[in-house]
Amino acid sequence: MEKTKIILDCDPGHDDAVAVMLAGKSPAIDLLGITVVAGNQTLEKTVRNALNVTAWLDIDVPVYAGCGQPMIREKMVAGDIHGESGLDGPVFPPLEKKAEPMHAVEFIIRTLMASDGDITMVTTGPMTNLAMAMRMEPRIVEKIRRIVLMGGSYTNGNVTPAAEFNIIADADAAYVCFTSGRPVTMVGLDVTRKVLCYPEIVERMAKVGNKASQLFVDLMAHFCKTQKEIFGWAGGPLHDPVTVACLIDPAVLTTKPMNAQVDIRSTSSYGRTNCDYFGYMGLPATADVAVDIDVEKFWDIVEQGLRNYD
Ligand code: RIB
Ligand code: CA
Repeated sequence: MEKTKIILDCDPGHDDAVAVMLAGKSPAIDLLGITVVAGNQTLEKTVRNALNVTAWLDIDVPVYAGCGQPMIREKMVAGDIHGESGLDGPVFPPLEKKAEPMHAVEFIIRTLMASDGDITMVTTGPMTNLAMAMRMEPRIVEKIRRIVLMGGSYTNGNVTPAAEFNIIADADAAYVCFTSGRPVTMVGLDVTRKVLCYPEIVERMAKVGNKASQLFVDLMAHFCKTQKEIFGWAGGPLHDPVTVACLIDPAVLTTKPMNAQVDIRSTSSYGRTNCDYFGYMGLPATADVAVDIDVEKFWDIVEQGLRNYD
């Protein structure tokens, strides 16, 4: 099986951590590096969380610290969901792994420039690092095979009625990425809200009985609790791993080409991904927008992802 080369840009974050776990040992993924951005929590905390997860699971992949704030707007975090640490719940041993000295944006630029154009950029947090890399070195744009992002929705948001967190947290960065001209797969709330991590799913993953499954259980104990308290979900929507799952098995996701535009001009709808589902405007498609997910297949991919740590 030919591996898909990816750089995973994330803001761990409980669901980001599961995305890292899926990518970390998958025979289908060549994880070149993990770049971290401020989002669910401050950069110092999201970097620490990425280091803890990769160190604990022996994922021998370098971690790079990136941008600590959005390109233009004021910083926002999601401590209400992910906790003060950004990864409340699991307890890790003393951390020895360090982030690389190179800035994440520099790593993205150098890696893409040295590539044959075969690297997929996977983003599961605000898109600041990727957008800044595009602005610092425009020649990387044509080197990006595809951008697969968790973000947005063609229905409603989760921070405002209009906007989803990863987009509204840096809508300008998302705008830069969506207008880059590169192929985009937008994995929005429309499908991630279909993969709710119910108690029976947690029980299923606990039976895998290894370090990864225990970490999954500990992560979900906090994540599902706060999602229920805030949104009333009976299980936490496991947003970010869907981006990796669809690279492991593309059949898990159904997408529809749409003209998708990030709103950076309005007030009440700032950060909305305006997706022209029916093609009213007759404009060219700018993204492959996820419209459905094979839930059973997704959980099979997650379970196998945990079993890769046996
Ligand atoms: O809206 C959900 C997204 O925002 C997920 O990526 C979650 O980790 C947060 O970053
Ligand atoms: Ca995230």
